[in-house]
Amino acid sequence: MNLTLKIWRQPDAATPGAMHTYEVSDISPDMSFLEMLDVLNEELQARDEEPIAFDSDCREGICGMCGLMINGDAHGPEVTTTCQLHMRSFSDGETITIEPWRATAFPVIKDLCVDRRALDRMIAAGGYISVNTGAAPDAHATPVPKDKADRAFDVATCIGCGACVAACPNGSASLFLGAKVTHLGELPQGQAERDSRVVNMVSQHDHEGFGGCTNIGQCTAACPKEIPLDVISQLNKDLRTAIRHGH
Ligand code: SF4
Ligand code: FES
Repeated sequence: MNLTLKIWRQPDAATPGAMHTYEVSDISPDMSFLEMLDVLNEELQARDEEPIAFDSDCREGICGMCGLMINGDAHGPEVTTTCQLHMRSFSDGETITIEPWRATAFPVIKDLCVDRRALDRMIAAGGYISVNTGAAPDAHATPVPKDKADRAFDVATCIGCGACVAACPNGSASLFLGAKVTHLGELPQGQAERDSRVVNMVSQHDHEGFGGCTNIGQCTAACPKEIPLDVISQLNKDLRTAIRHGH
């Protein structure tokens, strides 16, 4: 495949960025999107040009490090992570636009890399759970209804990639937050700090500059782990309950 790439280049957050055009050729449809960018970077380095900065780690769809806006879609045209997207999803001769996540709470570090530590600070604001869960065999001593165990497991698959924020016109992290709050809120061990956890996480969310949810739904459409929109209903319900309890 031969492709034209329009890629956002920006030296740092304080310097304005711009789109730059590159041509790549002999790209295999079986390459991942990041492998295609590796090919471009090798060519740039061979020409003594600055390679394009982008994030990745596992390249297996599990760590949440990768994330690009590809032709205006977070993680591109498929329901998957950028690292698991393959070039067969594109056509020979296509022009592909590649940009970083754009959100107030995710400042650009360089080129396609953004600072997503605001997500970590929200997790930290949620705090520890005080329940002693014991050793592995003790897990069986606390029965968890099957439907609650399944729900907790499903939402625990959130990898913290931030695509939901990038896809949201409000730059809201409500889907991420809803996944985290629902995960622990479904389990008996998560009950002790349930009220304080949701209040502190929502407060940190707003402090970081994420926007509010207006039920648009682009977050769940972009989510590579298919976290459902109703975790945001659960988030709002838990917050109302905590406030009623005097938090
Ligand atoms: S909810 Fe989905 S899109 Fe948002 S951070 Fe988690 S895995 Fe990524
Ligand atoms: S590099 Fe780990 S999920 Fe993409």
